[in-house]
Amino acid sequence: MAATSIRAQALSSSLAVSTACAVRDLVAGWRAQHQTVAVVPTMGNLHEGHLSLVRLARRIADRVVVTIFVNPTQFGPGEDFADYPRTLEEDRESLERSAPVDALFVPDEKEIYPFGTDEAVRLVMPSLSRELCGASRPGHFDGVASVVCRLLNVVGPDVLVLGRKDYQQLILLERLIVDLRLPVRVVPGRTLREPDGLAMSSRNRYLDAEQRRRAPALHAALERVQQALRRGDADHAALERQAIEELERAGFEPDYVEIRRARDLAKPQPGDTPEELIVLGAAWLGAARLIDNSSP
Ligand code: PAF
Repeated sequence: MAATSIRAQALSSSLAVSTACAVRDLVAGWRAQHQTVAVVPTMGNLHEGHLSLVRLARRIADRVVVTIFVNPTQFGPGEDFADYPRTLEEDRESLERSAPVDALFVPDEKEIYPFGTDEAVRLVMPSLSRELCGASRPGHFDGVASVVCRLLNVVGPDVLVLGRKDYQQLILLERLIVDLRLPVRVVPGRTLREPDGLAMSSRNRYLDAEQRRRAPALHAALERVQQALRRGDADHAALERQAIEELERAGFEPDYVEIRRARDLAKPQPGDTPEELIVLGAAWLGAARLIDNSSP
């Protein structure tokens, strides 16, 4: 079925709205009844990890809005924007079946970027946005911040629920909210994993059978670094290098493995305890760029 008719069919659901005005009206109605609102932003292709965030949102707010928007401004040239899986009808069904929401906001590009993406007002995120994943994805976090800011302005929630798997995104969006004094509280949700340890991700579908078999090695490598830290090994550079070599032997093309301070992703300072540290990594396996982290 053509993408537009799938979208039209999904939007015919009573839950789905496509305009900023429609979401604002719904939220205004809930607010008039003194109800709290949580938003879970997604790019669709929902898996159990997303659904667990929706269930978390349900536990902490009276009303839950899920947004589905494949945001063009967070993809660089040559990245997978065109190929990113768009599965709106399945997404709507999974939500209805397993994690009911009060509204599903599925805007089109004009609704989010009324002047188009080239002429859009842009946010420039601080230097952390150019490190770790940002070093190989220039502008990625500026795009994420821009769309999340727009979604927050439209929905006006009390709570923003974000996954811990995208840990750098989580820290940068927390920073955005504090810096712009946005009146919303961030609630992080845990990473859901397949039985073999692979973090759930929409991009796992790019893996072929052999790559899928190897994929849990990313998390295993990060966990080994975390365990070494806990045992008191303080040679961070050596631990990072060993993890990179381990990933190369497992058939990955590693982007980075880094030990950082969990609360702000700053480089570790003498005196930071292992409990304060997080190990983050990103690596290519075939067409999939996998990211993961291992926190204490
Ligand atoms: O994590 C994601 O899926 C996206 O980066 C987000 C937060 C929905 C913004 O497009």
